[in-house]
Amino acid sequence: MDGRRRRVSRSLFRFYNAFALATVLAATGCGGGDVGGVPVAADSQCPGDGCAAVRCPVRHRDDACPLGLVPDACACCPYGVCGLGEAAACNTADRPCADGLECVKTEDVGGGVQYRCACKETDPVCGSDNRTYSNMCQLNEAAAELGHNATQLRIQYRGPCQSAPFIRSAPKNLAGSVGHTVVFDCEVNGYPVPSISWRFTDTYGITKWLPGDDTLIAIQTRGGPDRFTVTSWVQIMEFKPTVHTGNYTCLGSNSADVVTASALLDVRKMV
Ligand SMILES: *[C@@H]1O[C@H](CO)[C@@H](O)[C@H](O)[C@H]1NC(C)=O
Ligand SMILES: *[C@@H]1O[C@H](CO)[C@@H](O)[C@H](O)[C@H]1NC(C)=O
Ligand SMILES: *[C@@H]1O[C@H](CO)[C@@H](O)[C@H](O)[C@H]1NC(C)=O
Repeated sequence: MDGRRRRVSRSLFRFYNAFALATVLAATGCGGGDVGGVPVAADSQCPGDGCAAVRCPVRHRDDACPLGLVPDACACCPYGVCGLGEAAACNTADRPCADGLECVKTEDVGGGVQYRCACKETDPVCGSDNRTYSNMCQLNEAAAELGHNATQLRIQYRGPCQSAPFIRSAPKNLAGSVGHTVVFDCEVNGYPVPSISWRFTDTYGITKWLPGDDTLIAIQTRGGPDRFTVTSWVQIMEFKPTVHTGNYTCLGSNSADVVTASALLDVRKMV
């Protein structure tokens, strides 16, 4: 499309918008209902066929709009319309999102474009039911589902609920080759994010913290790979069977609890 034609079609588009708006304002209480098979745009226009199809919420009925009322851009309803929840198909005309959500462009699996309500806050929150909600909107929706019991579910604090450490990936038993490198790893999840330490019990039953003073042992810990997860590695740079054979224990701890997972290191048998 060349520049001139684009300009022409843009002004036609503007004209159509102005026309639709005028129609809407002329009707006492504007249109409502479905946009039909037309792809939904975020700024889709108010229907020009009057407000007959719009079911206006009754203001004083609690359960009419579980997520609350939002101002009605099409001026169909005296008290506004029901706000939509997360992932609902939306537009800024007659399908607005509830408070705390915004109508954003998303791509569907088929490559098509859709507008859906998305929570403005993306961080998890801990509810008064000790459950972690992926964001504030999810908590609000859960509270709305409780209906008259909604006041029983509130935010307790921002961030996930405190949870005991959980071993996501435990160290595995290994058979090392003399003089070669051996690595154990351990992944722990929890909130607050746990810290990881390592203990070693040798073949005589003596237990010590790692790395101790062993210059051949290094420990590395880093955050991730997922949220609220930490990963740690014990690296034995030159495996000496008399010193390093034994039981390696990963300890994950936070303010809620301590968890452990163990693995054995032995000499690889020559076949
Ligand atoms: C939530 O957890 C706290 C601390 O563990 C506990 O005191 C409280 O009773 C729990 N509340 C619910 C609703 O389970
Ligand atoms: C509301 O709470 C009461 C008592 O706590 C319970 O009996 C009732 O089933 C709850 N209603 C809903 C919809 O959860
Ligand atoms: C390794 O150590 C842990 C913790 O001390 C213990 O629970 C486990 O039984 C030990 N494993 C073996 C095979 O000795």
